[in-house]
Amino acid sequence: MKASAPGKIILFGEHAVVYSRPALAVPVNQVKVEVDISDSAQPGIWIHAPIIGLQAELTTLPSNHPIASVILWAMQHLGIFPRPNISITIESTIPVASGLGSGAAVSVALVRALSSFFSHPLKNQQINDLVYETEKLYHGTPSGIDNTVITYNMPVFYLKDKPIETFKVGKPFTIVIGDTGIPAPTKESVGDVRRLWLRDPNRFESIFNEVAQISTMARHFIESGRPELLGELMDQNHEFLQELTVSSPELDALVLAARQAGAQGAKLSGGGRGGNMIALVDSASAESVAQALLSAGAKRTIITEIK
Ligand code: MEV
Repeated sequence: MKASAPGKIILFGEHAVVYSRPALAVPVNQVKVEVDISDSAQPGIWIHAPIIGLQAELTTLPSNHPIASVILWAMQHLGIFPRPNISITIESTIPVASGLGSGAAVSVALVRALSSFFSHPLKNQQINDLVYETEKLYHGTPSGIDNTVITYNMPVFYLKDKPIETFKVGKPFTIVIGDTGIPAPTKESVGDVRRLWLRDPNRFESIFNEVAQISTMARHFIESGRPELLGELMDQNHEFLQELTVSSPELDALVLAARQAGAQGAKLSGGGRGGNMIALVDSASAESVAQALLSAGAKRTIITEIK
């Protein structure tokens, strides 16, 4: 029984979204996680995840292990008892800790595969709620945006604790994703922003309000088919992320290189301090911007059309 889940990218509003401001995220279907579950002759629940060099029986893993905890939670939720003898294989083309949501995608694909294998269908909302609970175990205070966009596989205008809102893309546009190759320490950057906010709430609340306006305007431009207006908003959003201290010299260098190569705007995407940046391009210049990012130190690039 196979199930899959896509990667994701945040277009606008990361970090501010943790403080109940809106953010926009879209799925990235060029990369994905695939989970395959089959009956096994060996006793126990065997997990094979070659991407992270994991080959283990569930009970030998600490119960707070991200993959083990998702499986345990899902089985408890699905009422699977006694423990079956199964083999779970996890394959992924989503780079780990890059800001493309690899952890949430593994969790979503795992829950989906387990629910199908045990003929216990779950609605997207149930999958999303379950994965969010497990995200909280090892991410501190996640907003829930990653699991939501990955579960629904649709563009999402996300507001914490609010029913999911998707948005339409009036006119397709092209984004180049550039990966610094440096793992994004999202838990740490979210924690640092929280400390700054606690020290000077007025200043940081007003930054979050500015970012909220950017996300709301961006949604409007996307829905009304004017994506060319997003570039400037990306540049502004990046400046606010710099003020939040979550950019890095490597991210700034890629953002600058993208703009110099003709991108209409660029910003870091996700937790920051590593991971990915994104650049808005017209489709004709996508390849040359991707090339410029590689020359400026990007470890890989993905060109994706948002539609
Ligand atoms: C991580 O993909 C996005 C952040 O806003 C954290 C979160 O929303 O949980 C940095």
